[in-house]
Amino acid sequence: MSGRPASEYPSWKKLQQTYDSDKSKLVLKELFAQDPQRFAKFSKEYVSPDGPPVTFLLDYSKNLITEPILNTLLSLAREAELETYRDKMFAGEHINTSEDRAVLHVALRNFNDFQIQEAGASEVQGVLAHIKEFTEAVRSGAWKGYTGKTINTIVNIGIGGSDLGPVMVTEALKPYAKRDLTAHFVSNIDGTHIAETLRECDPERTLFIIASKTFTTQETITNAHTAREWFLASAKDKAHVAKHFVALSTNTKAVTEFGISSTNMFQFWDWVGGRYSLWSAIGLSIALVIGYDNFEELLKGAHGMDKHFKTAPLEQNLPVLLAVVGLWYNDFYGAQTQLLLPYDQYMHKFADYFQQGDMESNGKFVTKGGQRVDYQTGPIIWGAAGTNGQHSFYQLVHQGTKLIPADFIAPATTHNPIRNSLHHRILLSNFFAQPEALAFGKTEEEVRKEVGPNASEALIKSKVFEGNRPSNSIMFPKLTPATLGALIALYEHKIFTQGVIWGINSFDQMGVELGKVLAKNILAQLDKPQDVVGHDSSVSPHFSLMTMPLTC
Ligand code: F6P
Repeated sequence: MSGRPASEYPSWKKLQQTYDSDKSKLVLKELFAQDPQRFAKFSKEYVSPDGPPVTFLLDYSKNLITEPILNTLLSLAREAELETYRDKMFAGEHINTSEDRAVLHVALRNFNDFQIQEAGASEVQGVLAHIKEFTEAVRSGAWKGYTGKTINTIVNIGIGGSDLGPVMVTEALKPYAKRDLTAHFVSNIDGTHIAETLRECDPERTLFIIASKTFTTQETITNAHTAREWFLASAKDKAHVAKHFVALSTNTKAVTEFGISSTNMFQFWDWVGGRYSLWSAIGLSIALVIGYDNFEELLKGAHGMDKHFKTAPLEQNLPVLLAVVGLWYNDFYGAQTQLLLPYDQYMHKFADYFQQGDMESNGKFVTKGGQRVDYQTGPIIWGAAGTNGQHSFYQLVHQGTKLIPADFIAPATTHNPIRNSLHHRILLSNFFAQPEALAFGKTEEEVRKEVGPNASEALIKSKVFEGNRPSNSIMFPKLTPATLGALIALYEHKIFTQGVIWGINSFDQMGVELGKVLAKNILAQLDKPQDVVGHDSSVSPHFSLMTMPLTC
C-alpha cells in the first residue's frame, strides 16, 4: 500500500529465485515424509483474546512451502511495511488515497479498545443502540404496520455490499433466526427479482429496508420505488410509508427525498467500504433475523480477530499467514483462482460474499502510485458448499491442468445432529479426505495394483492423481455468531495484507464505473433504437431487436 511495486522488494526477487530453482523439490509427500513435525510447524490455533469464546485451527501444512520460503514471504510483508499500514488503518489514517478516506470497518466492531479519532467513530455506539431498539420493537411485535398488524416479513433492498453480507450472514446464522420472521433480499434490477418477492409479501405486514451507502445506486433506488408503489397501491396514504420503510445510508438528503424520515434512517459513514459494511447499519436485517444480542456477538467475534491481526507477530498472525501463502501461488506458481469451500450448508454463500470482498478490493492493475504492475494481483474467488462441489468442479481441481489453491472450512459439530450426527460424520469424512487426495494423489503404481493386469494404459493414466495440490483447512467447534465474525474478519485482513504487499489501493472500486455510465447513456437511447449512434458495430443490431415483434 506504500504504492511501491511488489516486484521491487528484495524478498520478491529471492522468492522468484527460490521458485525457479526449488519448484521441483516442493513435493508435499516428500515434505511430510522428511519432517514429522510439519503439521506442528505449519498449523496454528486461534483463541479469541477476549469477548465471546472463539477457537479454530488453521492447518496450512499442505502447502508447497518450507520454513525458509515462509520466512521470505513474511520478510516480503515487512518490506512492504505491512505493520505500518495496518497501524495506519486502525488509527483512521486516510489509506484509501484515491477517495481520501479512512478505512475503518474495524471501528464498527470496536468495543472501546482502539482509540480511533475519525469523525463518526464516536457515533457507532449510538447507531448500535438505535439498531437494538428498533429490532427489538419489530421482533417483539411492538412495532406495528399501518393496519395495526405486526411485521412478519422483511425485504432488504440493496446490491453488492448492501446485499451480499446480510444475505451470507443471515444464511450462515439461520440456527439463531426468528423463524416466524421471513427475510427476503432483493438486489437485481431484473424486475423478476422484486416481482417474485412481492408475490410472497403482505403489504400490511412487510417492512422494507432500503440499504444503500450512496442512496444513488440505480438497481436499489429503482427497486425501492417499485416496492413503494406496490405498498401504496394497498396503503393509499403516503403517511403509512413511515411504518414500512427504513433506510440504511450515509446520504440523509437522498433518503428524505425518497420519503423516508430521518428517524427511520440508520446512519453510517463514508469510511465504511460497501464490501465491509455488514458490521454497520447495513447489518440491520441481520439483527432483525438473529436478534441484536447475536448481532453484537458477531461484531465481538470480528473484534477479537482485529486485535489478533493488530498485535500478533507476523509469524503467528493468521490473516498474514493465509495472505502470504496465497500470494506464493498467485504470483509465483501462476495460480489464477482461489477456492473457498465451506463444509457447512449454512455457509453456502461464503464464497459469493468474498467474491466481492476480495475481487472488488484487489482486482487492480495499477499501484497506489499509478504504476502498472508487472505481476498478478487479486485472485478469482469461487467455491461452493461441500460436498456439492465434489460432484461438479472437483474433477478439474484434482486432475485438471490448473493449480487451484483451496481453503476447506468446517465446524466440528453441527446444529443439526440428525441420525446421531450421521450426516455430519459423512460430511467431515469428505472434508478430511479432499485435502488429503489433493495433496498426496494416487500414483500410477497404485493405480496399476488397483486395476489389475488387463487394464489399458489409457485407463491407467486417466486414474492417476498427480497430487501436490495445495490447501488450507480451518476447523472450529461450532458455527456461532462470534465464530462467523472472526472468520469474516480473518479473510478481510488477509485481503488487506495482500493489497499492501501488491502496493494497490484495496478500498476503491473504480472498475465498476465505466459500465454504469455506458448503461445510463444506453438507457436514454433505448426508447428510440433507430436513432442510436456512438456504439460499436456489434451493439446497434441488438437495439433493433427490441422493436421486433416477438414470435414466441
Ligand atoms: O458495485 C459497486 C458498489 O459501489 C459496491 O462497492 C457497493 O457495495 C455497491 O455498489 C452498492 O453501493 P450502495 O450501497 O451505495 O448502493
